[in-house]
Amino acid sequence: MENNKDILNNTNNNYVIEIEHLQKSFDGRMILKDINLKVKKSENVVILGKSGIGKSVLIKCIVGLIFPDKGSIKVFGKEVTQMNHKELNEMRTRVGFIFQSNALYDSMTVRENLEFPLRRNKIINDKKEIDNLVYEALENVGLTDVIDKMPAELSGGMRKRISLARTLILKPEIILYDEPTTGLDPLTSREISKLINTIQNKYNASSIIITHDLECAKRTSNRILILQDGIFYAKGSFDDLKTNNDPFVKSFFITV
Ligand SMILES: Nc1ncnc2c1ncn2[C@@H]1O[C@H](COP(=O)(O)OP(=O)(O)OP(=O)(O)O)[C@@H](O)[C@H]1O
Ligand SMILES: [Mg+2]
Repeated sequence: MENNKDILNNTNNNYVIEIEHLQKSFDGRMILKDINLKVKKSENVVILGKSGIGKSVLIKCIVGLIFPDKGSIKVFGKEVTQMNHKELNEMRTRVGFIFQSNALYDSMTVRENLEFPLRRNKIINDKKEIDNLVYEALENVGLTDVIDKMPAELSGGMRKRISLARTLILKPEIILYDEPTTGLDPLTSREISKLINTIQNKYNASSIIITHDLECAKRTSNRILILQDGIFYAKGSFDDLKTNNDPFVKSFFITV
């Protein structure tokens, strides 16, 4: 992290992500119409929205996995749509992506899964240093004891935490969480939400957290945006939105 303190040199402001007038259609159907979003350093932004509305598409655009039709996406002040292969790879070592599916490699142990990003990016070759980083990453998620297990031997919550550990091992400055608590029991979900906050505080990371889990949204958000019909329909703090009188906004905060 210390080595990356100069990350903002190539940008004039404090934003690590700047999206302007982003538009994306699939097969003539406009999913994202006019998305504008700026994320500050150390900020946790939560995105709420119905299933199929375009939340995953949006964060895939940020890391250059989906190419937008129009608009500008800057990460660390650089236009993602103009990055070459090498620049995209460099950017992706600084932006962690927790996929909606855990995307662990089933044929590798937990240790090998965690070593993978380090080896692939050739960031570190020293065995001892790799061991230390793997241990630190597992310690962050409270799972040092499963280091030699296979993903299939772990529960869903453990797999989620391991995929988080694997993302954290590169000490990303931005983390994009796609439904980090989905499918987990309330207690495990709470642990993940706390972990998201610990990571924010420990590494000063900025995050976008996509979730349907209101408790996760409440615990982790500095700011919430509601995606609807291709735009951010509403914005505000959890408490602002919870007390908003708009029926559509209200519909997100109805609990049983
Ligand atoms: N690569 C793609 N090609 C064609 N259509 C796509 C592609 N990716 C996403 N879509 C479509 O874009 C729409 C938005 O998908 P997206 O995955 O972003 O939804 P979401 O808001 O993340 O939903 P969920 O909450 O269920 O995860 C969907 O209709 C989906 O089918
Ligand atoms: Mg999704």
